[in-house]
Amino acid sequence: MNTENYARVLFVGPDLAQGSFAELTRRQFAEQFGAAVLDDLLDTNAGYDELWARLRQCLESGELPLLLVDLDPLGGSPQLDWLRGELQALAGEHADRLFVCAGNAENLAALAELIEQPERHLGCVDVPQLPQRHSWSCIPPHRHRVLLCNGPRCTRRGALPLWKLLREELKAAGRLETEDGVHITRTQCQFPCDQGPTLSLYPSGEWYRIRNAEEVKRLVRERFVEERAVPELIMRD
Ligand code: FES
Repeated sequence: MNTENYARVLFVGPDLAQGSFAELTRRQFAEQFGAAVLDDLLDTNAGYDELWARLRQCLESGELPLLLVDLDPLGGSPQLDWLRGELQALAGEHADRLFVCAGNAENLAALAELIEQPERHLGCVDVPQLPQRHSWSCIPPHRHRVLLCNGPRCTRRGALPLWKLLREELKAAGRLETEDGVHITRTQCQFPCDQGPTLSLYPSGEWYRIRNAEEVKRLVRERFVEERAVPELIMRD
């Protein structure tokens, strides 16, 4: 895909290639941007090699400037920092012609607007270096480990935006990767799909089903701030 500002726009994120969620996403992208955009959706479920190869191709063929839209709903700022650093290293003298932004695949009208607003994109030169002991080089402090199901049935039940909100709420409450807070791990199917979206919690061994934004906020407030179980949200046996 290209625009007035970019010779190439690439989209990168999980669940863009295979499975029901990908099928739906690809159909919506084709409707919003035209069928040719499907060649520019790069799936990261198996890693980033496809993205690096495609970027090299674009650099060699001079498809610049280029915008990379990160669609990972759980990516956050550290992932964007990392992507910018990788792009800077990969592009060398052409790094000033690469740009990134974080987009939401759930709202393609807003995504289309974001792509047309270069002032909302970040360059890949002078990217702040990650500190020597950044959060990816040591075990993050935490009291609870939360396993968030990204399996196909929970995803279809709306898990991804709920998990994004969970992360935001935990951060706002000062409970994301803090001594008294939560470390999040994404998983594939945890099995009680019919009760999902599934969130399991360790070391307490509680299993929660979280179905809407209100329940996300309640869980954060009662379980992780007030530190008490929330029986109404616990799964049945
Ligand atoms: S898909 Fe989430 S528990 Fe099965």
